[in-house]
Amino acid sequence: MTTPVSSRREGDILIITVDNPPVNALSHAVRSGVCDALKDVGDAKAVVLNCAGRTWFAGADITEFGKPPMSPSLPDMIAALEDCPVPVIAAIHGTALGGGMETALGCDFRVFNAKAKCGFPEVDLGIFPGAGGTQRTPRLSGLGPAMEMCVTGKPIGATEAAKFGLADSIATEDVLASAIEFAKSIHEKRRVRDLPNPEADEKASETWRKFAATRRRGEAAPLKAIEAVEASVTLDIDPGLEKERDLFMGLITGQQSAAMRHLFFAERMAAKVDGLDASPQKVTQVGVVGAGTMGGGIAMAFANAGVPVTIFDANVEALKSGLARIAKLYADSAAKGRMSEAERDARIARISPAGGYDGFAGCDLVIEAVFERMDVKKAVFAELEKACRADAILATNTSYLDVDAIAASIGDPSRVLGMHFFSPANVMRLLEIVRGAKTSGEALATALAVSKAIKKVGVVSGVCHGFIGNRMLKGYGREAGLLMMEGAAPEAIDQALYDFGMPMGPMAMGDMAGLDIGYDNRKSLVAGEDYEPLASALQDRLVEMGRKGQKTGAGVYLYERGSRTPVPDTQVTAMTEALAKEHGITRREIGADEIVERCILALVNEGAMLLGEGIAQRGSDIDVVYANGYGFPRWRGGPMFHADSLGLEHVLQRVRAYAAGPHGKWWTPAPLLAQLASEGGRLSAWSKP
Ligand code: 3HC
Repeated sequence: MTTPVSSRREGDILIITVDNPPVNALSHAVRSGVCDALKDVGDAKAVVLNCAGRTWFAGADITEFGKPPMSPSLPDMIAALEDCPVPVIAAIHGTALGGGMETALGCDFRVFNAKAKCGFPEVDLGIFPGAGGTQRTPRLSGLGPAMEMCVTGKPIGATEAAKFGLADSIATEDVLASAIEFAKSIHEKRRVRDLPNPEADEKASETWRKFAATRRRGEAAPLKAIEAVEASVTLDIDPGLEKERDLFMGLITGQQSAAMRHLFFAERMAAKVDGLDASPQKVTQVGVVGAGTMGGGIAMAFANAGVPVTIFDANVEALKSGLARIAKLYADSAAKGRMSEAERDARIARISPAGGYDGFAGCDLVIEAVFERMDVKKAVFAELEKACRADAILATNTSYLDVDAIAASIGDPSRVLGMHFFSPANVMRLLEIVRGAKTSGEALATALAVSKAIKKVGVVSGVCHGFIGNRMLKGYGREAGLLMMEGAAPEAIDQALYDFGMPMGPMAMGDMAGLDIGYDNRKSLVAGEDYEPLASALQDRLVEMGRKGQKTGAGVYLYERGSRTPVPDTQVTAMTEALAKEHGITRREIGADEIVERCILALVNEGAMLLGEGIAQRGSDIDVVYANGYGFPRWRGGPMFHADSLGLEHVLQRVRAYAAGPHGKWWTPAPLLAQLASEGGRLSAWSKP
């Protein structure tokens, strides 16, 4: 077996190079290769450690997690770097992440390429730096920056790293050559472990605890990271490292880390479609039809990624105000320091208005984001067919409508697919790519490539009402509506699901989205067949009274002028009680456990149903949809992973119990759920055979 580690001498300097594509993960072969190479220092005056390929070490090898540990461990390798008799210099390019940054901190000095970044993204895997990062980083940077890096997981650039003492030199040209020159000027070791303890910083502790409690609610890792960093103040390095290890081991063997690692691989897997061997078409110019909130957000998503966009709206005023809104959003971002003024201007300049459909003649991909009605969409596609090149891909941003029917309305349905963005489209990471019955491989491959280029997580869905995400949401909303009729207060429903980890409960969410959206949508559906009318009886009355949610100051809740804070309304309680009476429902006390179980298992059962139908390719794709588009807590891994954690036998038994209840017709157990429960399988690991 060839080793990923090689070494060579350049004069007095020993150069150790690691080449472990694609991201130089610190696998066992790398760790033992580096340890072996360090044994051959001989009479070298210094060692330079560098990586081949596109990046410095991107971290520990995540595929090794959960498997029996193999010696040398990462801390062993870092100790070998520290124990090396001569100075070791890290030559960093690309990204030094997690264990990769910890390796750099085991070196005596760090030379960064000017474009290099470093950080501790472990928190997104439900852990924190467990190979010395929480003890060595604060010895260089102080507590604040170390906590910020560990709790946010966000990487920092070379300049900031230098400001925090993490980078000793920044190379503008070849980082290896610079590191070799740097090594020649160094005559003594300077181990980070020998630096004095950092000072306590109560303000930093308070700031980052508050951040963890609000922005990473429910997650164990950020708080443990703070505790570990704080330990560096009082403990010597070795007991500090021991404390870090203890806390780290508690996390890595836990359920939250398993859930978040599942999502890490699930997101990368989602981009792969079985049997798809077509190459993507080049997309250098994109068109957007409709300059409303959605169209504007889509245009910004492309402009942010450097892709020029042509935008058109049949309503001239809407186009004008859409462009003004885009300019304002960019101006606000620049004013908040999120981008430079030059960047703001460049992004605005990438979005050009068109006076008509003929403006799309040069576009490789056109996405329509017009009113959600089949006749309106078909009319737009008829125009696009006339105006666009024959090889241009035409996408609809519909959330519910039949993509095959839209595709069938033009001559060549193979160039049509759905690209369902989530609002705000310039921010939300999820993109559902809807593959129609006739969508070509090229069109699908192009949409997947585009999704990556604009930094979205693309998930492929088959055609059905609501695709993966919104179809599943139907059962979730239905149970919330029924629970309210049966006796649960809206605020109790919202609180229970918020405590489960959702960003907001279904009642507040309905008010925010607008109750009229569901109301209008129900008009095209058959009551009792497509949806449970009792579950939306209250919302129907509210809409008919003009209470459409936040935008009208009242929906299920009341809203004070200019406020988004929901205030419970006794009139709604009275209306619900009256409706329940009308339908012969005896109201009762309902606890948080029942609320969560019914809403979440409704999601799970529908997920298993559509998985069995082949609408989603694999269970993990559903988890990716829910974690990125619906705020399902990442630390629970998504609805399919959560169901697996509950145990599928238990889930099936509960679904069957609800199937025997008063609204049992909506609870037919998904055949795949029953099958996997009996086979001991897992929904999150299931993929279409
Ligand atoms: N271990 C194992 N495989 C990894 C990996 C890792 N740390 N990081 C990436 N990969 C794999 C991916 O799964 C993917 O595999 P695939 O091609 O089979 O799907 C491949 O490498 C390429 O990854 P990306 O598609 O993510 O490539 P990008 O170029 O888009 O991004 C990156 C590169 C920014 C380095 C990104 O891969 C990344 O963020 N990686 C994870 C970084 C991380 O979380 N590091 C911490 C690890 S935990 C740790 O170090 C613990 C320590 O404290 C003890």
